[in-house]
Amino acid sequence: VPLYLPILFGTVREGRRSLALARYVEERLRTREDVTTRLVDPVDLPIENLRLRKWEMPDPDERIVAYSAEMERADGFVVVTPEYNYGIPGTLKNMLDVIFREWNRKPFGIVATGGIAGGARAADMLRQVIAGLRAVTVPRHVIVHDIENAFVNGRPKDEAALDALLQPFFADLEWYARALQHARRTWPAPA
Ligand SMILES: Cc1cc2nc3c(=O)[nH]c(=O)nc-3n(C[C@H](O)[C@H](O)[C@H](O)COP(=O)(O)O)c2cc1C
Repeated sequence: VPLYLPILFGTVREGRRSLALARYVEERLRTREDVTTRLVDPVDLPIENLRLRKWEMPDPDERIVAYSAEMERADGFVVVTPEYNYGIPGTLKNMLDVIFREWNRKPFGIVATGGIAGGARAADMLRQVIAGLRAVTVPRHVIVHDIENAFVNGRPKDEAALDALLQPFFADLEWYARALQHARRTWPAPA
């Protein structure tokens, strides 16, 4: 059975430049053997500032129910996010906070972008948040500098260089996804 590794995109900002990066990550991850994926775009989800978590909602929106089920069946995740003011966008935090069990004991691979620092501080912050989800982060991450100039007409300016970063990152994520899938099936989670 192929691994299911959906890509969570972190922003709904108008004119978001990092969408080209998320789409490129999706295109490349799709070509990996024994992997299926999909770009999960928060513009398609009714996720705003958190009022209730999914399991607290008396009548959850069907899109939230579908999101929960999709994350439940996922074996791991790639997060593609820009850095806003040294941190992750509020949208991404809300996407992560609205469900919980679905993330537990699964691996997250991080692709972050920004200006000169390339989103490194957002990547670091995301590791703290993911620990709170009782999930794990793949040690290797991918940082894309200067997103406003890194893509032209939706394609990376230096496609070979970006792909050279992505391939070993995907290989690591797949390794953790297989290892943790096996572990979750073999050993029940301690209380
Ligand atoms: C609210 C806001 C805060 C930003 N803060 C940072 C930052 O802390 N570090 C950084 O490298 N770039 C920062 N930038 C620049 C963004 O990385 C750059 O504008 C990028 O295009 C944002 O991604 P987006 O276009 O997909 O929203 C910020 C941009 C916005 C809109």
